[in-house]
Amino acid sequence: MAASSGRGVSGNYWADRPIHRILVYTEHGLTPEVVEAFFREVECETVYDPFAGSGTVGVEALLRGRGFVGVDASPAAVVVAAAKVSPEAGVSLRPDPRLANYYSEETYERLLRLSRRVHTALEAGVFFNVARRFSKFEYSPAPRFRRGDPQGDPEEHFRALLETARRDLRLLGGRRGDVLLGDSTWFMPRRVCGVLTSPPFANNVDYVRHTHIELLWLGVDPSRARDLQLPACEAAARSWRQHMPLNLEPGGRRARGYQRFLGQYFYYMRQHIRLLAQALEAEAWYTIGDSVLGGVYVPVHEILARFGEEEGLGASLVNLGERRMRRGRRLFLLRFRSRR
Ligand SMILES: C[S@@+](CC[C@H](N)C(=O)[O-])C[C@H]1O[C@@H](n2cnc3c(N)ncnc32)[C@H](O)[C@@H]1O
Repeated sequence: MAASSGRGVSGNYWADRPIHRILVYTEHGLTPEVVEAFFREVECETVYDPFAGSGTVGVEALLRGRGFVGVDASPAAVVVAAAKVSPEAGVSLRPDPRLANYYSEETYERLLRLSRRVHTALEAGVFFNVARRFSKFEYSPAPRFRRGDPQGDPEEHFRALLETARRDLRLLGGRRGDVLLGDSTWFMPRRVCGVLTSPPFANNVDYVRHTHIELLWLGVDPSRARDLQLPACEAAARSWRQHMPLNLEPGGRRARGYQRFLGQYFYYMRQHIRLLAQALEAEAWYTIGDSVLGGVYVPVHEILARFGEEEGLGASLVNLGERRMRRGRRLFLLRFRSRR
């Protein structure tokens, strides 16, 4: 497969597309070309995504008449993915008072009123979009405080986006998928036919920080949500649990932190791949980027491929080209095949 066109390998390809536009999270790997190729080549009735995020794979599976099951460790991601593949599911919000820090007084009051009208996953997904847009954060792509207050009427945005989303969702006919909250380094269904996913890379993305606002609207303490996650480089320093030494020697002042993070990351990814090897019936496609940490090149794709082979899977890599937002870093498609 050749390097991707469109917005570049690292842009968000899905932000303007029907259904996806309810809300999309950082998506570095799943290009439309990879998604197309997967559905062309892998013939499973139901597609599984163990790191479902905002549900890109789920939407694309249902649009093609396939079934979908997704898992994510972030309650925020589960709700956003459910907004797209299981929009009628019941969801209610329990705003954490700390939210007041992230809005002007007037906007916060308006959002609180709006939050009481949220009863389904679809309404919650749309509400999160509005709650992000009107917060004092800008996502660039990590959240940081912006200058000046966002303008506009949250209720109007909510109504307009909800209407668009309802219209978009007609594209699914009656097809629906399932999204579960879970840790994919511990949980995997007994049998999975085909997997398409974009797991956390060994880098700095702290998905909890990226979904801080949504977690607070759900009444989930962000620090608790972090315990379920594969460690992000930045978050690892806070929640170190397990260390497995690797023959990597990152340098610099933060060297020990990097080593610890990498040890954790690979430890958990191996657990995940072990579960995958036991359950996989056909093929599993992972888009994965390489990393540089503390000045040391980390061939994450090769290490994960080796894990797969050691667990009895066939593994092959396709270089998808340079990631646009990370000059010099590349994106790979890692294909695991069941040998059963
Ligand atoms: C690169 S994002 C996936 C993006 C997704 N393809 C989308 O459409 O938005 C990685 C996801 O993995 C999730 N994650 C991190 N650790 C996890 C774990 N141990 N089990 C399940 N999901 C996890 C994060 O919450 C995040 O949503």
